Parts: sequence; C-alpha cells; structure tokens
Amino acid sequence: MKGIILAAGKGTRLHPITLPVCKPLLPVYDKPLIYYSMATLMQAGIRDILIIIPPDESKSFENLLGDGSKYGVSISYKEQLVQRGIADAFIVGRDFIGDDSVCLALGDNIFFGPNFRQKLRTAVKTLAEGAIIFGYYVNDPRPFGVVEFDDDGKALSIEEKPSNPKSNYIVPGLYFYDNSVVDIATGIKPSARGELEITSVNNEYLNREQLHVITLGKEYSWFDAGTADSLYNAAGEIRSAQRSGKMIGCLEEIAVHNRWITLDQLEDAANSMKKTRYGQYLTGVLNDLKDEV
Ligand code: G1P
Repeated sequence: MKGIILAAGKGTRLHPITLPVCKPLLPVYDKPLIYYSMATLMQAGIRDILIIIPPDESKSFENLLGDGSKYGVSISYKEQLVQRGIADAFIVGRDFIGDDSVCLALGDNIFFGPNFRQKLRTAVKTLAEGAIIFGYYVNDPRPFGVVEFDDDGKALSIEEKPSNPKSNYIVPGLYFYDNSVVDIATGIKPSARGELEITSVNNEYLNREQLHVITLGKEYSWFDAGTADSLYNAAGEIRSAQRSGKMIGCLEEIAVHNRWITLDQLEDAANSMKKTRYGQYLTGVLNDLKDEV
C-alpha cells in the first residue's frame, strides 16, 4: 500500500501565521504539524510516501524530512499547482499510486490514542476491496464530512458540511482505498464550493456497497488543526498526553520499532538534537532498546 499526505493547503484560515510558513510546517507543541500525519502512515506500516505540497515549498519540506531515509521510508514530493479539493490528491498522485492501494492522510489531521497502531494495521490488512474510513464523535459536526449509521452500525449516508447533520460522527482525514479510487476521483464533479470532495469519493464507495466505516471511540484524540484554536488545543493535549512519558508522533521511535532504521541511525538522530527534549527522548528510546539486547 502506498501513502499520500495532502499537505498542499496554504492555511488561509491561519493568516497571518501562514503568510511566511505553510500550514504543515507550523509547530504543534514540540513538532511540526506534518510529523503527526507521517507518524500515522508509518504506524500503519506504509513506507512509500508521496507528500503533495504547495508550489515553491519543496526546499522547506526537504530540509525537514529529506528523502525519508532517516526514518527508513521513501518520500517523494509533488506540487499541487491549483487547489482543487482533497480528491485531487489521487489525480496528482496517479503515477505514484500505480496499481497499488493507497492510504490518504490529510496533513492537518492529528490522531493518537491507545493501540492506534493496531487499528491502522488491521485496516491495512483487511482492505482487499473497497474503502475503509473512520467515524469520530464530535459535539459540532457541521464543519466536516458527517456519516449517518443505521441501528446495526452500517453507514447510510455521508454529507459534507451539512447544516443539519444526521449524526455526530464526522469522517476524519484518514482514508484507505483500493486502486479504483483513482478512476473514481477522476470521474467525480466539483461540488458547489468548486472542490473535488473526498465525500463524493466515499459516497461512490457507499453506492457500490464497498465502504467500511470503523468508529474511533472516545479513548482516541483527533484534531483538524486548521484554525488557531484547534492548533492551540491540539498542542495542549499533546503536551499533557506526553506527560505520561510517551511521545506522540516521534518518527524515529516509530521507525526503529518497525525495524526500518538501525540503532546507529537512532543514535545519530538523538545526538543531532540532544539539546532538546525530543533528542533526549530519542536517547531514552535508544537506551531502552540497548538494555533489551
Ligand atoms: C475536509 C473534508 C471533510 C473532513 C475533514 C477532516 O474538510 O472535506 O470531509 O471531515 O477534512 O479534517 P475541509 O478541511 O476541506 O474543511
């Protein structure tokens, strides 16, 4: 399975913060926002990643993540020249996807919680045909895609930003699709707001009876960090969750646990950042692993 991170948003809802720096590179507590989507894909076991970025930003992304080898993954970049909506990721990414299945992670969505890795791995393993998306309970679902369920928990409809939502379950920005997503995305029409909506793609899978919705319970945290308030809240929650001693979105830690990088590579990363808590955390991970050997 291939992975795509859609990180092409300029972040107009965050002006003036995003005038000099694009949204995916903004800090969320102690890491850049895009680390969290990288962490999601890496926890799912996905190693071949395309990051779709805004025009003229490749240098800053490459400075941060490089070609991915420091995390044991392969990262390529492609500019989205015109913002045409989320489903455009599959058109921009057509050659990259080739004949494979694909997981799309929105570059401003943050997920964490117990055994999230297991949830992701199960999704990757069970996706033979069709699509797997998630449902997450929020108090105000109106700014999102909203999924309605029947009494047996089967998805009945998905609506994009409804003014009268049929449920409180929103569809967060993490989607697993079989290869037909490329043709589906190419065939859909722009919505009233002029975008190729991911909800139209999901509705096509629903019509084909190939849409599986997994609910994420309250034990999981999810943020769409697209506004100043949600960025701030996400940073606060990550800070308090990390008081447990476990870091969220630590890419080198995920890489070493996946056995994608060596202990020497981990040590290099730890040494290069040893003045920060992130680097010191990596030293802790390294020492624990050395103790195990
Ligand atoms: C997009 C999707 C929406 C989804 C949300 C998750 O909304 O269109 O279905 O629930 O991401 O963050 P947008 O960011 O375009 O407002």
